[in-house]
Amino acid sequence: MKLHEVADDVVETDVLVVGAGAAGLLAGIKADDMNVDVAICSKGLFRKSGATVMSTGGMEVAIGHGDPTDNPDVHFRDTVVGGEYINDQRLVDVLTREAVERLVDLERMGIVFERQEDGRLFQFAPGGAHARVVILGDLAGSHYMVALNREVMRRNIRVFEEVMITNLLTTNGAISGAVGLDIKKGELIAFKTKAVVLATGGAGQIYRYTSNPVQNTGDGRAMAYRVGAELIDMEMVQFHPTGLAYPPERRGTLVTEAVRMIGAYLLNNKGERFMKRYDPQRMELAKRDVVARAICTEVREGRGTEWGGVYLDASHIPEDVIERRLGVTRRKILFLTGIDLAKEPIHVYPTCHYFMGGVRAEPDCSTKVPGLFVAGEEMGGVHGANRLGGNSITTLIVFGWRAGISAAKYAKSVDYKPLDPSEVAKERDRIFGFLGRKDYIHPSKVRRELQEVMWDNVGIVRTEESMKKALGVIERMRVQDLPKVGVPDGSRRYRMDWVEAIEFENMLTVAEMVTRAAMFRKESRGAHVRDDYPQKDNKNWLVHTVIKKVDSEMKVWSEPVELIKLKPPNL
Ligand code: FUM
Repeated sequence: MKLHEVADDVVETDVLVVGAGAAGLLAGIKADDMNVDVAICSKGLFRKSGATVMSTGGMEVAIGHGDPTDNPDVHFRDTVVGGEYINDQRLVDVLTREAVERLVDLERMGIVFERQEDGRLFQFAPGGAHARVVILGDLAGSHYMVALNREVMRRNIRVFEEVMITNLLTTNGAISGAVGLDIKKGELIAFKTKAVVLATGGAGQIYRYTSNPVQNTGDGRAMAYRVGAELIDMEMVQFHPTGLAYPPERRGTLVTEAVRMIGAYLLNNKGERFMKRYDPQRMELAKRDVVARAICTEVREGRGTEWGGVYLDASHIPEDVIERRLGVTRRKILFLTGIDLAKEPIHVYPTCHYFMGGVRAEPDCSTKVPGLFVAGEEMGGVHGANRLGGNSITTLIVFGWRAGISAAKYAKSVDYKPLDPSEVAKERDRIFGFLGRKDYIHPSKVRRELQEVMWDNVGIVRTEESMKKALGVIERMRVQDLPKVGVPDGSRRYRMDWVEAIEFENMLTVAEMVTRAAMFRKESRGAHVRDDYPQKDNKNWLVHTVIKKVDSEMKVWSEPVELIKLKPPNL
């Protein structure tokens, strides 16, 4: 059997980057700088791919223009305190120091941040941190993507648009290639590669309500798991406090934290600024996990609005401030809800936003699988149990940059490994197996069921009982439903229901990881809130949960967090 007999196309590249958000693009650019051959695969449309483009907020970088007491050490402290001390402090150290260098690089690429009148940068304070977020109006994400895409095109880096990488291939345990489905043509591509950088972002689509784009189905985490990488802290899923609660068909859409940064209030149905009961000092700018939990409690205890949320009220803020700072957000909200933020409150409720848990990596972005690197949200451990607003873009930039350099260095040090055509054939059988199934279950049906089960049982608040229920459904889906999931035969071009079927298997794997890790951690910490273990327990649970596939089974264990720079008080 030859590769060309089992794949419609064969592509050879030193470094394959999976994902074309900011982390993936930067990884590609930096690998290209190192003079290796690079290809970037984007499941969605290139230039519109990933969650970066949706980012309205900015990036945390400790240059002290917004607050003269700020510096990378303070940024480190905020990030670790914000993450409830289970961050990998080596990664936080890199994040906070290199952010300052990367800011200059971004400006050289044409991403010029807003200045104060004296020329210093303008910096906002997000929840739980110093005034550190540099901004570009409320359209930061689009600016990053325009600049980075322009750079990728200027360099003529090969881009595979609307190609979903469905599996990674290893030879003797090291990366040797990957298999991709060209969604446009419905054809299979075999990639021969020395190194892969996974930068597929989060997995918000495993939840019923999410701010994430439709592509965020956890493909990277599932593929890394299948080739034997370790994943850490998968129970740590961030629910951003302010997703839209009204109208119902837009529920979950992100309302940027910047609305609270410019002074908006959170009110319950009695008109109270209820955050005074949960964090009287920081109020609406408490940490995200604290605000999300507070909103959830208000609604659970009957103080919510008729749309099952609370009010976010900016009507006391001068209209010119709203217009200047959040003009695009104001128009987006008006378009989606019919409500003018400057005049009336909107209804908000937490929405699944970010995965703090992900593939375990070293500071150089390498993983336990030789040749496999990760960047951006794919990387676990940076943010511990809760991420601060604005630290996401910082992570994409700092670790996208590093991953590109590390993957290129690795690729220069090894030869291509032989790709076994029978492995590609096996993957072809798996993904083409979803096509033309008789008595099939349509993927949209099981996806929605999974999203609802995760939302209801492994969401903002969890219990052993609720999670057992979710795990039961996940196991049933894997054994009974997955073999039947499929789509009728027909054209293979742009068969998005086929793509949904392939994604569903990844979603199941990620949902199982989140659920098993959440059942394992018997305490409440940051975004992981258990009604049956409501206290944080530093004596027993200052640990990472680690997940790995061992003999086809999902194993979970814990490893102590290394407190190399900062310890919790009283420890
Ligand atoms: O609220 C926001 O604008 C989100 C920013 C972030 O997640 O960092």
